[in-house]
Amino acid sequence: MSESAPFSAESYFATQPPPASLEHDILGVREFVQQQLKKDRNVVLVTSGGTTVPLELNVVRFLDNFSAGTRGATSAEYFLKAGYAVIFMHRQFSLQPFSRHYSHSTNPFLDFLEIEAPPDAAPDSTPQICVAKEKREDLMSVLTAYKSVQASGTLHTLAFVTVNDYLWLLRAVSQELSALRRRALYYLAAAVSDFFLPRQKMSEHKIQSGKGSLHIEMDQVPKILKSMVDEWTKDGFIVSFKLETDPALLIPKARAALKRYGHQLVIANELHTRKYQVLFVTPSSPTSIPDDPADEDSAFTETWLRVDIPSTPSAVSQKEIEEEIVLELARRHSEWINEKKLRQTQR
Ligand code: PMT
Repeated sequence: MSESAPFSAESYFATQPPPASLEHDILGVREFVQQQLKKDRNVVLVTSGGTTVPLELNVVRFLDNFSAGTRGATSAEYFLKAGYAVIFMHRQFSLQPFSRHYSHSTNPFLDFLEIEAPPDAAPDSTPQICVAKEKREDLMSVLTAYKSVQASGTLHTLAFVTVNDYLWLLRAVSQELSALRRRALYYLAAAVSDFFLPRQKMSEHKIQSGKGSLHIEMDQVPKILKSMVDEWTKDGFIVSFKLETDPALLIPKARAALKRYGHQLVIANELHTRKYQVLFVTPSSPTSIPDDPADEDSAFTETWLRVDIPSTPSAVSQKEIEEEIVLELARRHSEWINEKKLRQTQR
């Protein structure tokens, strides 16, 4: 344990430097939010991928958090399909909406292409590149969706690498998005490091191996969801994720997060089944969660969302669970907006 006091969100931002691109990134987000406000669109912030914790200032080594960015990239596509404008805040080089279908490992892009000699051309004419016949239908549907999103200007992407980049960006983007008030949805699917090395404790140069074993004492990353709910966002609908490897912890941890942070919804998922089932956990009453643990079962509502498990490991699942997640969230978000409006008019 570190002997110094744990970082609060406030002390974190007062002592850890912002990333160099922050100002530029904020201007881009501000412009995007203004455009969506004019068009009266709901906007979702999707965070995606893992964050790193560098061990040196001139970084050679770092710790990483597990996440390919599949959940975030896939969800972003379905949010766009559902009519949301999307701010996609992702780990640099992790999966992205649309291009995710052609990642180098699962569906190499070059395998889509064929070299074809024009049938009636002279022998020295240039061969043509074309898309393999059996791939055309799928490619056409992805490309059509991609081009339509580009034309409508509904996707804005931002990249982070370290947990420090992530925290600064998350705060700034949340503050910008708060202009949309309840029309903003926050979908925090990134896998965020729980521990970090403050800049003041980092070695400037590559840590040398001559001393034998390496001992590093890390500080805890502040729990920023509380600040996000209470300070950075005004009235937004906040969805966090809870990843566990022990299924018995899913419900207690999700409930604890809702009690502690006071946001709207936790999506709990277990590492090995996360592509086929997730659990939506919400407070049963939007206004209060009872303190008495005896009332706990009635204080929360839990709903499983599931899709079929593919019959073989290589078979592609018919439906992506993110489609179900996003449809359900869009429904709940719109219901929540209407309830808020109603309560406002009754006052
Ligand atoms: O990308 P894939 O390979 O598809 O994997 C998807 C996923 C399993 C990473 C995703 O579904 C998921 O569960 N993401 C959250 C995992 C996680 O790190 O949970 P957590 O217990 O550390 O954090 C809880 C929530 O608070 C998360 O929504 C996290 O984004 C957010 N958080 C946590 C700490 C912190 N300092 N800041 C945060 O914003």
